Formats: sequence, C-alpha cells, structure tokens
Amino acid sequence: MMKNLLPFLLLVSQHALAVVVEVNEGAESVLLPCEFSGLIPENDSTVMWTHKDLYNKSVHLRRKEGDDLGEQNQGYSGRTSMRPDALNTGNFSLTLRKPQLTDSGNYTCSISDGREERRLIDIQLQVKDYKVEVDSGVESVQLPCKTTVNLPKDAKVEWKNKNNRK
Ligand SMILES: *[C@@H]1O[C@H](CO)[C@@H](O)[C@H](O)[C@H]1NC(C)=O
Ligand SMILES: *[C@@H]1O[C@H](CO)[C@@H](O)[C@H](O)[C@H]1NC(C)=O
Ligand SMILES: *[C@@H]1O[C@H](CO)[C@@H](O)[C@H](O)[C@H]1NC(C)=O
Ligand SMILES: *[C@@H]1O[C@H](CO)[C@@H](O)[C@H](O)[C@H]1NC(C)=O
Repeated sequence: MMKNLLPFLLLVSQHALAVVVEVNEGAESVLLPCEFSGLIPENDSTVMWTHKDLYNKSVHLRRKEGDDLGEQNQGYSGRTSMRPDALNTGNFSLTLRKPQLTDSGNYTCSISDGREERRLIDIQLQVKDYKVEVDSGVESVQLPCKTTVNLPKDAKVEWKNKNNRK
C-alpha cells in the first residue's frame, strides 16, 4: 500500500487549477476539462466530479470497474459521461449534456486511491441565458422554450416581457 500512496502524497500540496467554462443554455453539451498526467493509483482509484454548492454533491464517479452512479445527484441523471478509458489515459474530462441554468457553479475534479484524495481542477461553470439576436424588419423571430419535466395536465404556458406584461 505504501508504495502506491507515496507518489500521491507528494503531489497533494500542489494547488488545484481554476478554470472558467461558459456555455449557453440549450447547447447540446459542455466539456469540463480535467487531465491528469500523474501516476494513477493501481488499486481503488476513483475519479470524482462534484458540485460544491449542492447538498448532493456527487455529479459523476468513475472506478476501475466503470461508472458508479448510485450516489449521483438525480439532477445529473443520464446527462454525464466520461471517456471509457479515462483511468488509463488520465483524461478525466466530463461531458455534461443539455446544460441548464441551474448547473452553474463550481465543480471539482478529484482522484482518490481510497485513502487520500487529491483535487485536480476547479471549474467554474457559467450557463448563460438563451440569447436570440435578430435584425430589425425581419418577418418573425422564434423564441425557444422547452421543458424536460412531466407537466401536470392543467399546466399553462405564459410568455411575458421584461415589464411583466403578457
Ligand atoms: C493491489 O491489489 C492487488 C490485488 O488485490 C494486490 O496484490 C497488490 O499488492 C495491491 N497493490 C498495492 C500497491 O497495494
Ligand atoms: C441524494 O443522494 C442519495 C444517495 O446518497 C439519493 O438516495 C438521493 O436520491 C439523492 N437526492 C437527490 C435529490 O438527488
Ligand atoms: C479528453 O476527452 C475529451 C472527450 O471526453 C476530448 O474532447 C478531449 O479532446 C480529450 N483531451 C485530450 C487531451 O485528449
Ligand atoms: C465559485 O468560485 C469562485 C472562485 O473561487 C467564486 O468567486 C464564486 O463565487 C463561486 N461561485 C459559486 C456559485 O459559489
């Protein structure tokens, strides 16, 4: 075990990088980069993506055997993926599909050998409001709006302008 742990401990003092990633709401996906060039522990190595601001912090968890999403925050269900070969290549980047405004915040990518945890990178994700630009005088413009939740039968849709007028 010590043989495995030692190179790991030597790296712990290095500061994690901080990176800002911006994406528009409605984009197909966004990539949160995390690349590790150090030695990946042979046993019990786990890569964790967490969202600091959430009660359920777990966004994605990868073990040698594969993804372990049992504790994943349900808000990310079916929307996260990592390369299948991540633990061999050190490319721990996370693909987050259908980014939503509420996904904004600080994410951390870290690796653990079961005993020590090392933060590799902090990503500040900013999901921006949909912005539609149009030239004056065109025939029409489409304002996109869709929802993913199961709406109740009596749901109604209302469009308002910034002055709160229907
Ligand atoms: C990793 O696990 C294998 C199998 O359990 C064991 O034989 C080996 O000693 C372990 N290596 C380290 C560095 O702990
Ligand atoms: C939070 O995590 C627990 C498992 O640790 C899970 O059972 C629960 O459904 C999660 N809640 C949400 C809102 O994702
Ligand atoms: C890491 O993987 C992502 C896809 O998950 C890819 O877009 C990116 O180019 C890869 N980075 C490197 C350095 O290969
Ligand atoms: C994310 O981290 C940055 C830098 O540490 C901080 O300025 C910002 O307020 C944080 N954002 C949230 C939503 O906590």
